[in-house]
Amino acid sequence: MNAVEIKKDIFWVGAVDWNLRTFHGHTYSTNRGSTYNSYLIKDEKTVLIDAVLGAFSRDFIEKIKSVVPPEKIDYIVVNHVEPDHTQALPEIMMLCPKAKIYCTQKCKEGLFRYYYGDWDFQIIKTGDELKLGRRTLKFIEAPMIHWPDSMFTYCPQEELLLPNDAFGQHYATSQRFDDEVSECELMDEAQKYYGNILWPLGTVILKKIEEIQKMNIPVKMIAPSHGIIWRKDPLKIINAYISWAKNTVKPKVVIVYETMWGSTEKMAKKIVDGLLESGIEVKLFDVAISDRSEIIKEMLEAKGFIFGSSTHDNDMLPGIAGFLEFLKGLKPKNRVTAVFGSFGWAGGAAKEIEGVLKEAGLEIAQESLGLVYAPDPADLNRCFDFGKAFASKIK
Ligand code: FEO
Repeated sequence: MNAVEIKKDIFWVGAVDWNLRTFHGHTYSTNRGSTYNSYLIKDEKTVLIDAVLGAFSRDFIEKIKSVVPPEKIDYIVVNHVEPDHTQALPEIMMLCPKAKIYCTQKCKEGLFRYYYGDWDFQIIKTGDELKLGRRTLKFIEAPMIHWPDSMFTYCPQEELLLPNDAFGQHYATSQRFDDEVSECELMDEAQKYYGNILWPLGTVILKKIEEIQKMNIPVKMIAPSHGIIWRKDPLKIINAYISWAKNTVKPKVVIVYETMWGSTEKMAKKIVDGLLESGIEVKLFDVAISDRSEIIKEMLEAKGFIFGSSTHDNDMLPGIAGFLEFLKGLKPKNRVTAVFGSFGWAGGAAKEIEGVLKEAGLEIAQESLGLVYAPDPADLNRCFDFGKAFASKIK
């Protein structure tokens, strides 16, 4: 793919990673691939904003060369040290060794840990500016959105915000803008990104959005470091972030279960019937065969979570245990939960699951439901009623 001029003399020079299927190790499924976005601004001075994953260095350099000889780059802004945005930096620095790097102190420290980069740094703080000629760049520190080093860059003359990971999506496309792709796919990926990466950071995100709103800076375009650029309606993604950060939910239930011989699964499906009878939207996932990142995306907007597991060695099954451990780290709030499952003789899974839910600070809305070996018709009626009772807690 070629460089794309996103505004007069501002170019996307990033990389599209069509084949990426997992991210952050294997914690995040990227079924639609991803992009690593980098932007080049040509003014009296030339500035490169962020870089790409190392595997794409050659592509990246070719794109830059199609716009400007790399040795002409005067400044490089590094909004975030994570390797998906910096691995190509050492190669770029070999082509423009005199370029000054603008980043936070934490970012400088991180760049040294990753690359031993002995480069010319300008450490920035919120409010600092860099004059390019006709344009200026202003910097806004954004620690913990989503690493301690993170910052946003803003260009007032273009009303352009470059917030790195914030407002991004893992979404590989030949298009670059929100008005060129399916809105449904775009928001789906944005929601998945928020749920799996930013969910625990809601308080920080709300404060940062509030701080930027108080600065009274107009934003006509948001160009993040992954996926699509927001130009049609940047407020759409800002408002979505505010809603997710506030843990705003709808009357929807996500049921996550794991089963040994199918009894817990039969229970789960009857609980679904009880919820549906009450008009509640439901999503059901067998955690052993489902995509965890997709489950988390669904949970982001659901008021109710129900967890089921057969008992094994007086404990829950390992798939549900791993899932709950991941969910606990996301620190969901304002949710109600319930637990169910079958067992052979002693039981134990429900108690263990409830222990994790309490540790996570989640409300357990009703007594757990258990049964021995396999459900009979009376048990299935109890499951149906369990679903109905839970529905009444989330309406
Ligand atoms: Fe896309 Fe935090 O790196």
